[in-house]
Amino acid sequence: MDLTLGVYAFKSLALATELEVFTELDGGKTISLAEFATRHGIHERPAELLLTACVSLGLLRLDEKGAYGNTPLSEEFLVKGKPRYFGGWVTLVDKHEYPAYLKMEESLRGNHPSTWDVKTQKSLFQPNDPVVKEHFWDAMHSLSAYTAGQLAESVDFSEIKAILDVGGGGAAYDIELCRRHPHLRATVFDLPFVCELTKPRVADAGLADRIDFASGDFFEVGGIPEGYDAILLSNILHDWGIEDARKILRSCAEALSPGGVLLITESFVDDDKRGPAPAALMSLNMLVETWGRNYTAAEYSGWMDEFGLKSEGVTPFDGQGANGVLVGRKL
Ligand SMILES: C[S@@+](CC[C@H](N)C(=O)[O-])C[C@H]1O[C@@H](n2cnc3c(N)ncnc32)[C@H](O)[C@@H]1O
Repeated sequence: MDLTLGVYAFKSLALATELEVFTELDGGKTISLAEFATRHGIHERPAELLLTACVSLGLLRLDEKGAYGNTPLSEEFLVKGKPRYFGGWVTLVDKHEYPAYLKMEESLRGNHPSTWDVKTQKSLFQPNDPVVKEHFWDAMHSLSAYTAGQLAESVDFSEIKAILDVGGGGAAYDIELCRRHPHLRATVFDLPFVCELTKPRVADAGLADRIDFASGDFFEVGGIPEGYDAILLSNILHDWGIEDARKILRSCAEALSPGGVLLITESFVDDDKRGPAPAALMSLNMLVETWGRNYTAAEYSGWMDEFGLKSEGVTPFDGQGANGVLVGRKL
């Protein structure tokens, strides 16, 4: 029953996020049921059902006078514009992934993604899908903002001068790493249209002098810029089948400076493939989204070995977008 309730809980969160319930209650504001119903032009019965669901899930609190307000959780993660805003990811799952789960069996039987049309598109990462263009990179930023802080604490960045974030997307890692490590410079490497989407985000963070952009395609020979003492691959390799994932890893290993480190941060499936559930479910999500799956640290370490990197093992952490970082050092 808990698992089936997951659908109701998720849709409550998604609808409340879409209605900007939490953003409107920012900074300790409260609202009564009648005010909420009037503001959204809805009947009190559905309004109360949604608000009660949110209270039961710890997303809202209800005081003795009948006023609804944010909890510390929603105040930190569900108010638009806050640094750890998670609503971008909620919106992507709701608008882009949820419809694909209605035809998940097609993916299962056909062994192909179902969030995009494999006959007309080369990959998920195309500017021609308006839902993806509008929500995907906001979502990635939102998924990675908190996780980036975990990575920043898990790796010794004192010797790293410049990091290349391959498939850096919304630059969540670069922004957080540069904020926490003032000596560090970062480069976001991504497709040209993604770099253009992300530039304003870096400028808004006041870090345009330390974070720059290199646009390109990581499948092109020599496409990945050289001269960096660290390369980050966050949620990149799981987007691709084994052959493509190995190609990306090999190109990163070749581009890395000798003695440099490759950081793979992802939700690693346990080597014995019995869990953990968040990684196994993200791996299943790769069925509807991509040709990939979430690999194990043992699989990555084996590939690193082939490409001249010595695996230093996984440092586990508790992030939304990843459960640890696997470090490989170039010999
Ligand atoms: C799942 S997102 C990860 C974003 C970011 N690393 C994070 O964890 O927040 C995958 C990223 O790979 C980028 N990407 C996809 N194909 C690419 C290619 N051929 N060359 C460079 N980047 C690519 C996408 O644009 C997207 O930003």
